[in-house]
Amino acid sequence: MSSEAAFTGSIPELYDTVLVPMMFQDFANDLAAEVASSGPGTVLETAAGTGIVTRALHRILPRATITATDLNPAMLSRADVVLPASESIRWQQADALDLPFPEASFDALVSQFGIMFFPDRPRGYAEARRVLKPGGRLSAAVWGPLERNEVSLAVQEALEELFPGRAPMLIRRVPFAYSDHTIIRGELEAAGFSDVTIRDVVYRSAPTSARDIARAHCQGTPLAHELAEEYGGPAQITEDVTRVLAERFGGQPFSGLLTAIFFTGIA
Ligand SMILES: C[S@@+](CC[C@H](N)C(=O)[O-])C[C@H]1O[C@@H](n2cnc3c(N)ncnc32)[C@H](O)[C@@H]1O
Repeated sequence: MSSEAAFTGSIPELYDTVLVPMMFQDFANDLAAEVASSGPGTVLETAAGTGIVTRALHRILPRATITATDLNPAMLSRADVVLPASESIRWQQADALDLPFPEASFDALVSQFGIMFFPDRPRGYAEARRVLKPGGRLSAAVWGPLERNEVSLAVQEALEELFPGRAPMLIRRVPFAYSDHTIIRGELEAAGFSDVTIRDVVYRSAPTSARDIARAHCQGTPLAHELAEEYGGPAQITEDVTRVLAERFGGQPFSGLLTAIFFTGIA
C-alpha cells in the first residue's frame, strides 16, 4: 500500500472524531438516502473508512445487510467501536481493486470519498460492476475541485506559505484531483455501467477552530506520513498551520464551502 492510502495508526480516531463531523456528515446522509431509495436488501460498501455512510444507511434501512469494507483494518476497527458488527452489519478488510466476493453478489454498491485513492480506478469500477447483480446500482461520491473546498484549500495554502516552492502536495495531488465529470463518466461507461448520472452537491463545513482544522488534516489523514518523512513531523506542522489559519480567520471558527460530486451507474 502506498503511504497516500495509509489511514493507519492514530489517524482513524482523529479522522472520525474531528474530520468527519467537520466535512463528511451531510454528504453521508445524502448518499445513504440515495442508496436507500432503490430499497436494496444487500449492500456492499467499499472504502467505508470509519463507517459514516454505513451508520447513516443502517439508520434508514435497518433490515438491509451491509457489508462494509476498507483497505485499512485500523479504520474498520474504529468503525466497529461506534457501530458493532451484527446480523445486518459486517465489517471486512478488502481492497476495492480485488474484491473477495463472487460475481452478482449485491443489489447496491456505495463508496464515499475513497475512489480518489484507488491506484487503478478502471479496475475498481470493473470490480464494482462484477460483484453487483445485473441492474444493481453503484452510488459514489468524490470531492470536487480544491478551489471549491475552502477548508482543505486553506490548509494547503498555509502549507504553501510555510514551505514556499516545496510544500507537501498530497492534498492537491490525491483527494481533490478526480473531479472532471467527463473523465468520471468515461471511466464508468468504459467499465460497462449504463444510465450514468453525475451531479455536484454543495454544503458548508461545520464551524471549526483553526487548531482542529489543522489537526484533522495534518494528523487525521495520510498527509501525516508526508509530514513525518520530510517536514519535521505532524505535531510541529500542526502548530505552524494553526498559527497561519488563526491569523487568517481572525481567531474565529471557520466554516467554508464544500463541494462533492455524486454519481451513479447501473451494472
Ligand atoms: C477519505 S477516507 C473515506 C472513508 C469513508 N468512506 C468516509 O466517507 O468517511 C478514504 C478511505 O479509502 C480507503 N481506501 C484507500 N484505498 C483503498 C482501496 N484500494 N480499497 C479499499 N479502500 C481503500 C482508505 O483506507 C480510507 O478509509
